[in-house]
Amino acid sequence: METQSQWSSKLGFILASAGSAIGLGAMWKFPYVMADNGGAAFLFIFVIFTMLVGFPLLLSEFVIGRHSNTYSTQSFGVLTGRKSYNLIGHLGNIGVFLLLSFYSVIGGWILIYIIRTIVILVTGSPTQDYEGVFGSLISNPLYAIGGQALFIVLTALIVAKGIRNGIERASKIMMPLLFIAFIIIIIRSLTLNNAMEGVSYFLKPDFAKLSADSILFALGQSFFSLSVGFGGMLTYASYLNKKTDLTQSGLSVVGLNLIITVLAGLAIFPATASLGIEAAQGPGLLFIVLPYVFDQLPFGHLFYLIFLMLFFFATITSSISLLEINVSNATKNQNSRRITAVVLLSIGLFVLGIPSALSSGMLSDVTFLAGTFFDNMDFLVSNILLPLGALLFSLFTGYVLDQRMSRSELVTQSYQEPLFKLWIFLLKFVIPLVIIGVFLSLIMK
Ligand code: PHE
Repeated sequence: METQSQWSSKLGFILASAGSAIGLGAMWKFPYVMADNGGAAFLFIFVIFTMLVGFPLLLSEFVIGRHSNTYSTQSFGVLTGRKSYNLIGHLGNIGVFLLLSFYSVIGGWILIYIIRTIVILVTGSPTQDYEGVFGSLISNPLYAIGGQALFIVLTALIVAKGIRNGIERASKIMMPLLFIAFIIIIIRSLTLNNAMEGVSYFLKPDFAKLSADSILFALGQSFFSLSVGFGGMLTYASYLNKKTDLTQSGLSVVGLNLIITVLAGLAIFPATASLGIEAAQGPGLLFIVLPYVFDQLPFGHLFYLIFLMLFFFATITSSISLLEINVSNATKNQNSRRITAVVLLSIGLFVLGIPSALSSGMLSDVTFLAGTFFDNMDFLVSNILLPLGALLFSLFTGYVLDQRMSRSELVTQSYQEPLFKLWIFLLKFVIPLVIIGVFLSLIMK
């Protein structure tokens, strides 16, 4: 067997993992829910869930990945000697494939808007009907499917180049650019009239506004936005050398993810407040509200383009981690098979993604269970498969995995021993209960 690829540096590993974490999860819906549900009070709850649920699960993926040093549909068996535990890896492997098939639809919209904004910059002919433009773009099958295909091709090109030359290099370029783009947008936003009104709308703590729904959302978000539950972080950690401190790396990823969440709010709310309009969530925000806001400003199209690029970097660094999980499993980490696997998986993703891409157009009337095909895929992945994966990870690490193994990965100094015990306690009791609670309440809705 060929020797397995490795990250060239700890920074590369951290940036790639942060790239996986930071994505639509942190930037699409979160700032909106936060502003609407008590601002800093909501953030406080989210930080607690992140530390008690997301972070311990992240460490569990890191431990399993690095200790087994192999792909996710084999690692559980390698660590326990029982192949049946590999089922957890298989679940994740299927989950990410489904997730990427519709994640790429949104990625495609972002690309279409990037192209459109560049055209406007060059020809200087903006349209005023923001909602109409958005509706007609995403309902046009050519644009919807074309954008999705382009997004998958870009993801595939990066993953095909391998760990160091592809994923690590892309993350090392895109993550700093993401931060720079954010800083530019935030400076622009904060220097608008009434900017402080937006900041206070976003941040002002109000515990009375916390709703049960928002707390559930914060819980689900604490693992979705850290990419845990499907073995993505396991896969990335399997390419890691033995020297790198897992706890410290995990904390860096968590910290970066939290910072981005706050930055996203600081970029959006001052801008919407300055025009006295309501912010929205998801597509409405990025494709309808923000174009309107930026149209009113000098050089607005340029700022909007930067905003779109920022979303693009965030989504593609997540999608490469999703595809990499499938690729590492399909190739059993043999680099000679990488290109073939990337090509075949991309074709499969594209085909499976078509009904999701058409869900805002031709197929918008075809609804069942949770809504359109897209809505159903989202529901299945975000509300069923991902919580299930996270639950299995916590039970496996808490009850099945030999603690001597996980201790050898996490405890390097004696003061870490009590923290290790706390980690085991959270995995055994707290996280399973919390996840089952969220799971039941989401299913019942
Ligand atoms: N964390 C990513 C986001 O917030 C989504 C993701 C989930 C990526 C699971 C990989 C695995 O967009």
